[in-house]
Amino acid sequence: MDGARDRSKRGGSNPLYGDNRMKLGIIAMNCSHGSTITTAEGAWAMNWPDTRDVAVMADKAGLEVLLPVARWKGYGGPTNFNNRTFETYTWAAGIGALTDRSAVFSTSHVPLVHPVTAAKQAVTIDHITGGRFALNIVCGWFKNEFEMFGAPWMNHDERYEYAAEWLDLVRKLWSAEEEFDYDGRWFTCRNLWSEPKPVQRPFPPVMNAGGSPAGQRFAATHCDMNFVILKQHDLEGGKAQIDALKSMARAVGREVQVWIHVYVVCRDTDKGARDYLDYYVRQKGDRVAVDNLLTIFGMQSETLDAKVLDEFRFHFIAGHGGYPLVGRPETIVAEMDKLVKIGVDGCLISWVRYKEELRQWIDEIMPLMVQAGQRRPFTPAV
Ligand SMILES: Cc1cc2nc3c(=O)[nH]c(=O)nc-3n(C[C@H](O)[C@H](O)[C@H](O)COP(=O)(O)O)c2cc1C
Repeated sequence: MDGARDRSKRGGSNPLYGDNRMKLGIIAMNCSHGSTITTAEGAWAMNWPDTRDVAVMADKAGLEVLLPVARWKGYGGPTNFNNRTFETYTWAAGIGALTDRSAVFSTSHVPLVHPVTAAKQAVTIDHITGGRFALNIVCGWFKNEFEMFGAPWMNHDERYEYAAEWLDLVRKLWSAEEEFDYDGRWFTCRNLWSEPKPVQRPFPPVMNAGGSPAGQRFAATHCDMNFVILKQHDLEGGKAQIDALKSMARAVGREVQVWIHVYVVCRDTDKGARDYLDYYVRQKGDRVAVDNLLTIFGMQSETLDAKVLDEFRFHFIAGHGGYPLVGRPETIVAEMDKLVKIGVDGCLISWVRYKEELRQWIDEIMPLMVQAGQRRPFTPAV
C-alpha cells in the first residue's frame, strides 16, 4: 500500500470524521456577497487573493470544512447577489493545493456535469488534497441557470431519482477494478473506466442539502451528510427535524451527520451585534434580490411553505436562511451549546466580511468553544 492509501481510512485523512463535537466550516466564499444580500460597506466582493487568505487562515486554525456554492448567475437587484462566482471543482482544486487540513468540498449540479467527468474531477481533487475532498450534490433550484445549459428541467422529485442514479454511477467509477457497462434510466454507457481511484476508501464523503421529503429521503439513503435549513428557529422544532433525519437514515442502516448554515454577527456587546444586524438587513438589505431568490425558492422548490418563507425573508438577507448566531462571543458560544444539544454536527458559517470576521472568530470564539467542551484544543500550524 502506498503512502496515499495509508491515509485512506475514514477520519484518517478527512477532518469531517474528526472528533470535535461541533465541527466548523465556511460557506459561499466563492460567490460575490457570500450568503449576505446587503449593500452594506465591506460586503464580500470575491476575488482570488481574499479567497486564498480566508482559506489558508481557516485551514491553519483547524476549521473542518471549506464549501463553495454552485451558482451560474446572479439574482439581480442592486447587489446582483452571487453574480460573480468561481466554478466549484476548479475552486476546490486550487484551494486544496493551498491547504493542509480542512476538508475541501466541490458542489456539483448533478444534471449539469456528466458522472464520468465528475468522478474524475473529484478524484483529482482527492489526490491533490491527500484525501480531504468531499462532494456536495445539488439537484438545482434556479431554472434560469438550467436554461443557460439548455438542460432539461425535470419535475422536482424526479431530480432526486436522477441524482441517485448519477451518484451510483460515480461511486461505481470510483471503485470498479474492471471496465463495466451501465444501463440505467438516464445513463447508458459502455466500457466505463476511471483511474486513479480516490485516496479515501471506499468513497469520499457526499453531502446533500435537500429539504423536501424527496430531498431528505435522498440524503438519508445515499449521502453521508445532510445540509439542513432549520425550518424553525426554535430549538424544539429544530431537534425534531434533526431527529427525524437521523432516524430516517438509521432505518436504512446508515449514519448521517447533520450540518446547518449559520450567519454570524459578533461584536463586543450583544446590543452592538444586534444593531449591526439590523443595519445591514433592514437599512442596507437588497429587497429586489431577496424577492427574486424567494420567488425562485417558493415556486421551484418545495422545502418551505409561504408563511415560513415570509418569516425567513429577514434571515435570507442576513445569511441565506441560516440560523442566527448574533451577540458577543460568550452569547454565541452559549447558543452553540444549544445547537450541540439538538444534534447539530457541524456549522457552516457566513459573515458580511469574511476576512476580518473569521480572524475575530478564531481569536475570540474558538478558545471559548474549547472551554465549553464543544471542540478539542488545537495547536495552530506554524
Ligand atoms: C445551505 C444550503 C446550500 C445550498 N447550496 C446550493 C448550491 O450551491 N447550488 C444550488 O443550486 N442549490 C443549493 N442549495 C439548494 C438545495 O440543493 C436544495 O435544492 C434546496 O435546499 C431545496 O430543497 P429541495 O430540492 O429538496 O426542495 C443549497 C441549500 C442549502 C440549504
